Amino acid sequence: MYLVTDPTVIDLQNRLAKMLGKEAALFVPSGTMSNAIAIKTHTKPGDEIIAHKKSHIYLYEGGGYAMLSGCSVALIDGEHGIMSTDSIKKAIRKVEGSHAHYPNGSLVCVENPPMYGGTIYSQEELDEICDIAHARNCKAHLDGARIFNAAMASGTDIARMVKKFDTVSVCLSKGLGAPVGSLLVGDKDTIKEAHRWRKMFGGGMRQVGILAAAGLYVLDNHIERIKEDHSRARYLAENINSMDNYSVNLEITKTNIVFIKCNEGSDKIVKKLSDQGVDISSIDESTVRVVIHLHITDEDIENTISAFANAQ
Ligand SMILES: Cc1ncc(COP(=O)(O)O)c(C=O)c1O
Repeated sequence: MYLVTDPTVIDLQNRLAKMLGKEAALFVPSGTMSNAIAIKTHTKPGDEIIAHKKSHIYLYEGGGYAMLSGCSVALIDGEHGIMSTDSIKKAIRKVEGSHAHYPNGSLVCVENPPMYGGTIYSQEELDEICDIAHARNCKAHLDGARIFNAAMASGTDIARMVKKFDTVSVCLSKGLGAPVGSLLVGDKDTIKEAHRWRKMFGGGMRQVGILAAAGLYVLDNHIERIKEDHSRARYLAENINSMDNYSVNLEITKTNIVFIKCNEGSDKIVKKLSDQGVDISSIDESTVRVVIHLHITDEDIENTISAFANAQ
């Protein structure tokens, strides 16, 4: 037995692996570490990963793919954080046939839902991306920080959704609402290798049964609840979209993330909302992002709608 650890952690790992239809899982402190370990496990120094230019792995993980795994990154553009299958085909480079000019593209990283979109990939897209990756001798990793939001929004069985991915990173602390923790899920050999990297990255934790217990609690109690976040997000999006100074693309608003285009500069809107006790973030000069989660009530939504109306 290679994963000698706390029994509650083992329960959590086994439970999530089973839910995702995979052989094994590894509990880690954060989504960032889970992605970093996946990249390290699937690549060799000098390889290249393929990711969206607005993905968390590229934008917000400190360039860990370069420092910790020695990889370059081929960036793909695409509306609402979605990478087209065509762009992935073109982005995978291989040493072979390039007179040694290219690096080896060895890992395609997909984010579902993309944090820069509020939307989700279709099952056909996910399957095709994995097929393309595997046909070019690449692994496919899913950054599923909010994968249960994707599953609830699409009505897809989660094991079916991730079937073709080699690894999946799942966060307990986002849509699911646990205080801390993420898991990397995959086949036994991959997770065995990941265990070694977790040790080196300093993510092996000792008496963390209490954290795993919170993870088990949210798997039991908070999955269906995510639908409430989605309907609150939808209600908020529709109301704000009906105001003169804002617009929301309702067609892509499928999860708990709402992107709002503002006629006025986004920094000004963030400040005006903050003055009314509502915290949102600015994404670019004209867009703000609102994320609905476990702690946001109907009353908070009404207050937020009023705050947007007052900020016009
Ligand atoms: C899509 C995505 N992946 C990974 C992460 C990283 O998670 P953590 O903050 O636990 O490191 C986040 C965090 O917001 C995220 O949105």
